[in-house]
Amino acid sequence: MAWIRFLDPDAEGSVPTGSSLLQAARSLGLPIGSTCGGSCSCSGCHVIVEQGKEALSPIDDEEETILSVAFGLQEGSRLACQAEIVQDTAVTVRLTPETKEAHAQRMAR
Ligand code: FES
Repeated sequence: MAWIRFLDPDAEGSVPTGSSLLQAARSLGLPIGSTCGGSCSCSGCHVIVEQGKEALSPIDDEEETILSVAFGLQEGSRLACQAEIVQDTAVTVRLTPETKEAHAQRMAR
């Protein structure tokens, strides 16, 4: 199990190793977007990893391509559907305005 802390909105809890950040956020009831359903084609799950980058699976070419079109790219940017927690350690992740907006649009349908 790994400990994950989300910021804006704040929530934290333990999740099984192997979980994606998307799965972790959903398990904590957070408003994270996933327009493509987690198939790495929308960038709606864009988050910023603020602590514990080394505990996550590396970025592959597919994630890099989709991430390049996300709004507000910065150090620590990841696609939550592709970043898996691979070590039992603490990870801190900030939700982006982009992912909260993608979630709001899905809920409005
Ligand atoms: S949910 Fe679409 S890229 Fe992650």
